[in-house]
Amino acid sequence: MTRVVVTGGGTGIGRAAARLFARDGAEIVLVGRRADVLKETAAALEPARVLTVAADLADTAGALRVLDALPEGPVDVLVNNAGGVDRDKQPGLAGYAESFRRTLDANLVSAAVLTEALWPRLTRPGARVINVGSVAARRGGADGYTAAKAGMIGWSQGLARKGGPEGILVNTVAPGYVQDTEFFTTSGRSARHDALVTETLLGRAGVPDDIGAVIHFLASPEAGWITGQVFDVNGGSVLGR
Ligand SMILES: NC(=O)c1ccc[n+]([C@@H]2O[C@H](COP(=O)([O-])OP(=O)(O)OC[C@H]3O[C@@H](n4cnc5c(N)ncnc54)[C@H](OP(=O)(O)O)[C@@H]3O)[C@@H](O)[C@H]2O)c1
Repeated sequence: MTRVVVTGGGTGIGRAAARLFARDGAEIVLVGRRADVLKETAAALEPARVLTVAADLADTAGALRVLDALPEGPVDVLVNNAGGVDRDKQPGLAGYAESFRRTLDANLVSAAVLTEALWPRLTRPGARVINVGSVAARRGGADGYTAAKAGMIGWSQGLARKGGPEGILVNTVAPGYVQDTEFFTTSGRSARHDALVTETLLGRAGVPDDIGAVIHFLASPEAGWITGQVFDVNGGSVLGR
């Protein structure tokens, strides 16, 4: 049975991806900080076999907790999806620095450390590592979130180089504006919503399934010759290059 680890799998994009893997009959490992949220999502994925691990991945101990909780056997797919913006920024230079570091930890270091911890457990050949970046990396932005998501692209490409000879494929999916997540809770109209939708060529916000579908494809046998790439999934808000 295919085993898939999805970080941030309790909500939004991670939950949508987990649902698609569950439909294939995969065993799913959902990771996030809130046990109750993970349990609720796990129940919705039944009858799939789902393991939940409550862990803060910004902390190295969180990655070790995931490793300890994994049953025997290899990991076929690792989706590094956990992340988000820091909503607790304090004023002043120290607050800026602290927030910037915290955001790098939560979005980039967390993915790198978990991948390093699970690397020996990945299926050889055939494992997939799928990292969730952001359109922010394409646009640029003077904040820790943009720096983390931009850093994720370079790190991910290096990981693809490292994994290639062992048959481990590594790619990044970079979403644009996706509603119905905790990242963007507003589903109705607002000035921000309207502005973000107007930027797309398709005239609508993304939904978690738009991103989940690409993650799912990248884990499929049909994607067996794709590695070291970035997939922009943004309704055309930023054009590919
Ligand atoms: N929605 C968008 O428009 C958008 C656009 C571009 C990129 N993204 C990226 O897409 C990914 C998924 O976000 P989403 O939109 O689906 O929003 P979301 O619903 O907020 O999902 C983020 C998930 O990550 C988990 N998480 C956050 N920090 C964590 C940590 N330190 N340790 C473990 N789990 C953690 C959260 O669960 P807990 O709070 O329970 O830990 C949550 O389930 C993120 O990396 C985000 O940056 C989203």
